[in-house]
Amino acid sequence: MQYHLAPLFCRPWTLNGITPRLIESHYEGNYGSALRRLNAITEELEALDPATTSAEVVNRLKRDEAAALNSTLLHELYFASLGGDGRAVPETMAEALVRDFGSTDRWRQEFIALANALAGGSGWVLLTYVPRDGRLINQSGADHGQNIAGGIPILAIDMYEHAYHIDFGANASAYVAAFMRNIDWAAVQGRYEDATRVAPPRPLEQKQFAGVPAMTVEEVKAMLDSGERVQIIDARPRHYTTRAQDIMDGAVWRDPERLDEWIGELSKTDPVVTYCVYGFHVGCETAIALRKAGFDARYMAGGHYAWKAIGGKVRLFE
Ligand SMILES: [Fe+2]
Repeated sequence: MQYHLAPLFCRPWTLNGITPRLIESHYEGNYGSALRRLNAITEELEALDPATTSAEVVNRLKRDEAAALNSTLLHELYFASLGGDGRAVPETMAEALVRDFGSTDRWRQEFIALANALAGGSGWVLLTYVPRDGRLINQSGADHGQNIAGGIPILAIDMYEHAYHIDFGANASAYVAAFMRNIDWAAVQGRYEDATRVAPPRPLEQKQFAGVPAMTVEEVKAMLDSGERVQIIDARPRHYTTRAQDIMDGAVWRDPERLDEWIGELSKTDPVVTYCVYGFHVGCETAIALRKAGFDARYMAGGHYAWKAIGGKVRLFE
């Protein structure tokens, strides 16, 4: 495929303290060359046969392709970040910054600090929306890499020297300040609104247990930490426990096959949380059986390994 050039998004003559000469040189020389490099690499990749080409050659080209593609995309975002007055952050955007950073000032200070830290080096600072968590995060990356997987950058400052030396010499912080004075917040907000329409990664769905109340491991941990009364049943199958070394601290193991033998030990006034190895079947089925018997039972999603994955306390399983 051929990548197509994007016209310059901002109007260089309207910028405050950044000259058209700098933008022209940056757009033509650096953005343009990234796009041309990207097309040349793409052509090379399309022409080779991955079955007969050495893995090193394919690997090098794919790395170069990723760098050139990121450079192309980030430069387009950079030029689309400029052209406003930098001051008035529109309501939706301001609310999002307050939600995720505490205040717009705090966001601004962090963003500026990250940009200044790249003075004399090379890289990008991005304000990125992460659909998985529905939140914004500032990120700094050396060169053209290290973008957050699945993240959608909505504002970018280019911290390569070529982005400022014509106007600012080595004075990177003056450039950062000028960039901040020229942010096009209306455009940033438009991209934010587009980004929030991107669905988060699909969560695990267990259709057969859709109606069974579940708790996350974080919720169970919070319950234990707060000293709330709760009965935690480790219902890992017997055959599994013969090789198990540890058990969640605060849980008792009960054989899910012999529920009738131990159900009488449980109190009906305190909630019950059950879990199995990964949280797919046995824990859910045990919770269903307990609910049928009138207990306030839920299963812990993700099971034993999710508990360990959050660093939850375990003890030796005897
Ligand atoms: Fe650049």
